[in-house]
Amino acid sequence: MSPRAYPPPPSVHYAATVAGLPRLDGRTVAITGSTSGTGAVLARTAGRLGARLLLLNRASERADASLATLTADGVAATAIACDLQSFASVRAAGPAILAAAPDGIDVLCNNAGVMGLPDTATVDGCDVQMQTNHLSHFLLTSLVWPALRTAADARGEARVVNHSSGARRGRPLEARYMEAHGGDLGGDGFPGFAKWRRYQQSKLANLMFTYALSERMPEADKAHGIKALAAHPGPTNSGLQAKTAQAGGTRLLDRYILTRTLKVAHSVEDGALGIIRASLDPTAEDGQFYGPAERGEPGEAVLLPAERDEASERLLWDVSSATCGIDEYFESPAAR
Ligand SMILES: NC(=O)c1ccc[n+]([C@@H]2O[C@H](COP(=O)([O-])OP(=O)(O)OC[C@H]3O[C@@H](n4cnc5c(N)ncnc54)[C@H](OP(=O)(O)O)[C@@H]3O)[C@@H](O)[C@H]2O)c1
Repeated sequence: MSPRAYPPPPSVHYAATVAGLPRLDGRTVAITGSTSGTGAVLARTAGRLGARLLLLNRASERADASLATLTADGVAATAIACDLQSFASVRAAGPAILAAAPDGIDVLCNNAGVMGLPDTATVDGCDVQMQTNHLSHFLLTSLVWPALRTAADARGEARVVNHSSGARRGRPLEARYMEAHGGDLGGDGFPGFAKWRRYQQSKLANLMFTYALSERMPEADKAHGIKALAAHPGPTNSGLQAKTAQAGGTRLLDRYILTRTLKVAHSVEDGALGIIRASLDPTAEDGQFYGPAERGEPGEAVLLPAERDEASERLLWDVSSATCGIDEYFESPAAR
């Protein structure tokens, strides 16, 4: 089965949405996963609107190409190595990001992700999907929080945007998926549901993190304009599906999910509109969630109803903090 069998669809909504966005001169936008897909579109879009970019990718030729392409397009971009499969790499990226953004970070878009990977442990012992998609973003956000404060103080707002998925639905969060049980979370046997359960949990974590962050951030930070938002792209023809197949996602269920996604998918530009609106739309508010409205279908990125779940939010915060080794998530706002 080739996930490339479906050609990229034309963009329907992208141009009109982007035409309504303001200039971003003097703003800094940090993005995880700019090498392809929705992260590449957000980077190009924000860069062309005048933002300075921080590209947070794991080191690779794809990361080098992302920087080269944006720079050739006249965008001011800085690359900082950040491998989301390693807490040590994320911890090393934190100070480098703060040093590269002395005027603050206006938008941190936690976009990068992997999907449907085998039941494998990272070097930190966590599930590869949960650590890449959620835990490392949870840690990264805590490390760059001072830069969000700097931007909010200087320019009246700053945003954290998390990229969820239509696959978030199914079951409430369970602690074991966010703990160090990588390689012991259901395996990859017939019929292959377990890998998609692990993906579901990681994508639900993205949304629950958004609500938990909004709820728990210090009042002073909220008053200064820091916002937590989420988006989901809808089925999108990006680099994601090919990587699932390359990693061994060839069982009947894998083939069904990948084929169904690509058959109905919209373009990567239209798929990026959720994170584009959450990151750059001046009307977006704290706690909001953007994406196509119809379950499993492509469509315009619209404001979606909230999906608050206090039990999952509390579990997410407590377990993620413990797994990432974070004692105090926010430094005292009095230090500002
Ligand atoms: N496409 C869809 O239908 C769909 C649907 C729902 C949700 N999403 C979500 O949308 C987001 C973007 O995915 P996409 O569709 O744009 O896929 P994509 O084209 O594969 O992009 C994923 C990005 O994540 C990066 N990444 C993966 N592992 C990483 C790591 N360990 N450290 C740093 N970066 C890493 C990739 O970089 P490398 O070049 O290093 O691999 C790439 O830049 C993901 O969070 C995904 O879950 C996508």
